[in-house]
Amino acid sequence: MEPGTSDLVVRRICPDDWAVARSLRLRGLADAPDAFARTYEEESVHPDAFWIDRAAAACTGNGVATFLAFDGHKPAGIATGIVDDGGQSQLVSMWVERALRGQRLGESLVNAVVQWALDCGFERLSLWVSEDNGPAIRLYQRVGFQSTDRTDALRLGSGVRIRMWVRHLNAV
Ligand SMILES: CC(C)(COP(=O)(O)OP(=O)(O)OC[C@H]1O[C@@H](n2cnc3c(N)ncnc32)[C@H](O)[C@@H]1OP(=O)(O)O)[C@@H](O)C(=O)NCCC(=O)NCCS
Repeated sequence: MEPGTSDLVVRRICPDDWAVARSLRLRGLADAPDAFARTYEEESVHPDAFWIDRAAAACTGNGVATFLAFDGHKPAGIATGIVDDGGQSQLVSMWVERALRGQRLGESLVNAVVQWALDCGFERLSLWVSEDNGPAIRLYQRVGFQSTDRTDALRLGSGVRIRMWVRHLNAV
């Protein structure tokens, strides 16, 4: 976020943030089940060790990077960069607290993942978004993602269609 404009900050996860990341992830899955391939039912049963390992893996390096947003000290949002099957970066697990939406916190989270991807030397950052997720699509268009012709079902048996969007990092 712009310094001095608010108490909203975005930073990379630390190992000690594992419970915060679990809370944000589970709140996101409960709030927006049609935005994520995984479900609350699947992820809420993981033991503490799962979240501890996930935070430790995401705090440093090029394999996976999770970014957390805070409103002062209050957890407010989350986004993660991973490496996809093609060896390029992918943005996943993006969620912002409902009361804080529309203040470009989502944009700050995307920018943090973009910066990580650039620092790692990836040439593109992709993401999958549901076709009817207007707020997310507006955000991704605004920050330079372009739609592709790749579509899929959100998950097995789901009627929700998702589409891949891509931002070419070397062209920015
Ligand atoms: C997508 C999401 C992360 C965006 O977070 P955000 O902090 O609101 O993002 P931004 O403020 O940068 O931009 C959001 C866009 O949605 C609009 N918007 C949607 N709902 C809004 C609301 N309730 N209040 C204000 N603006 C809203 C904003 O106007 C903005 O578009 P615009 O500025 O181009 O007009 C958030 O809506 C969310 O968590 N949704 C549920 C989970 C989800 O869909 N994740 C994405 C999976 S691919």
